[in-house]
Amino acid sequence: MKLPARIGLIGCGIISSRYLEVAQELPEIEIVACADMIRAAAETQARNYGLDRVLSPAELIAAPDIDIVLNLTPPAAHYSVSKAALEASKATYSEKPLAVTYQEGERLLALAKEKNVRIGCAPDTFLGAGFQSARRYLDEGIIGAPVAATAFLMSRGHEHWHANPAFYYKPGGGPMFDMGVYYLTAFVHLLGPVRRVTGSARATWAKRTIESEPRRGEVIEVEVPTHVAGVLDFASGAIGAIITTFDTQASMLPRMELYGTTGTLSLPDPNTFGGPLQVRSAGDEAWQELPLRFGHADRSRGIGPADMAMSTLEGAPHRANGDMALHVLEIMEAIHVASDTGRHVKLSSQCERPQPLPEGVYAGVRPD
Ligand SMILES: NC(=O)c1ccc[n+]([C@@H]2O[C@H](COP(=O)([O-])OP(=O)(O)OC[C@H]3O[C@@H](n4cnc5c(N)ncnc54)[C@H](O)[C@@H]3O)[C@@H](O)[C@H]2O)c1
Repeated sequence: MKLPARIGLIGCGIISSRYLEVAQELPEIEIVACADMIRAAAETQARNYGLDRVLSPAELIAAPDIDIVLNLTPPAAHYSVSKAALEASKATYSEKPLAVTYQEGERLLALAKEKNVRIGCAPDTFLGAGFQSARRYLDEGIIGAPVAATAFLMSRGHEHWHANPAFYYKPGGGPMFDMGVYYLTAFVHLLGPVRRVTGSARATWAKRTIESEPRRGEVIEVEVPTHVAGVLDFASGAIGAIITTFDTQASMLPRMELYGTTGTLSLPDPNTFGGPLQVRSAGDEAWQELPLRFGHADRSRGIGPADMAMSTLEGAPHRANGDMALHVLEIMEAIHVASDTGRHVKLSSQCERPQPLPEGVYAGVRPD
């Protein structure tokens, strides 16, 4: 593969616009073709972003000049689309979650290994300026040794704004798989892997009514828990607590905090790339805002595949990688299993903390 890596995008819905915009600024990747099961959706995005190749998903996967398949379909289609791409020996980068079940995720990683191609997965927000800076400060000891961490995603659900929100209430959706994935990925990036989890989950409403256009008034049958609380025992000994919900009307809780032996880090929203990042150490009278030391404070989706392309060239592991995505998928599934079975669930997957990005100012994914 040479740079820019040639990317074929499958799934031309809402989030594809962000990737198509950001890819135009990243020197490591170029989106050269797009596909969708609804051809008109691909034609619209090709027109909007100046792409001259609209293909069927099968044609795109078979195209010999495409280096990476970017899978931006809804969660329930992630497995089948990524599997088809990997079977064709194509490097694959998927939107989150990696798959709907841990078993499917394991199969994708095994297939990637068998075909000797890379598999990457969103979120890549932990590669933004906010969380890369947090990682650097943490590793330098700004709060001492990590003791505990909290994360809260308190929301009313997505039927108020998304054009086609039903998938958020089907397997692979729900607040933990849809949004918890950002918080858990940020935690694993900062604190390393989790050893065991427990949790409780419920669905407050069996049906939800869409309030956004064009499906206003349609009723969604809820098939997954919509309020999920989990407790995480990290292998390092730190203890995490996470609540993700689509069932609350309002909240003033912080997004994420990390508590160390000598201070506390207040972390940014992990669904964004920037700050603010604040610290308060023992004895401090007030919170102090920390300067961000990395680029990509306002990029949005695309650094992950760009880092995968660059790392392939360098022969180094990429950061938004399949091992971490599979571990996060196992955590999410295990919290639900713990709730169903009333116990702690020990995790079987392993992953390393991804290497931090080098410090500096960025146009692409490496310092200028
Ligand atoms: N919308 C957001 O704000 C957002 C943000 C971050 C991540 N994501 C993630 O991005 C993914 C897509 O979300 P979205 O909001 O863009 O969804 P969407 O429903 O707007 O778009 C999905 C597109 O994929 C197509 N598609 C479905 N199954 C397919 C298949 N088997 N083969 C080819 N095309 C297929 C659909 O026709 C549709 O055009 C999800 O995994 C979601 O979790 C969404």
